Amino acid sequence: MAEWIRVCPLDEIDPEDVIRFDHAGRTFAVYRAEDGTPFATDGLCTHEGVHLADGLVMGDQIECPKHNCRFNIRTGAALRVPVCVNLTCWPARVRDGHIEIEV
Ligand code: FES
Repeated sequence: MAEWIRVCPLDEIDPEDVIRFDHAGRTFAVYRAEDGTPFATDGLCTHEGVHLADGLVMGDQIECPKHNCRFNIRTGAALRVPVCVNLTCWPARVRDGHIEIEV
């Protein structure tokens, strides 16, 4: 059954930034978009499993640190070669000043 998990205080992630979050044996990438909206995706690149939290957020996109592919952080869509498999996205919200994701 899905449940909301508290990740961190909202202000711990700058707008247009990302952190790694590990929970129950799974790694997530948790983002704040430029407008402050939180998003969450799987934390590992679908190309060679690199941690996306080490990458760069540019607008609505995360760039993988290894081969510079890009994904849309809102939809998980793979946007640039060499990656062709989308990321799984997870619901994210702000409650009581904290980012939560539903897993
Ligand atoms: S590991 Fe991410 S693009 Fe290759």
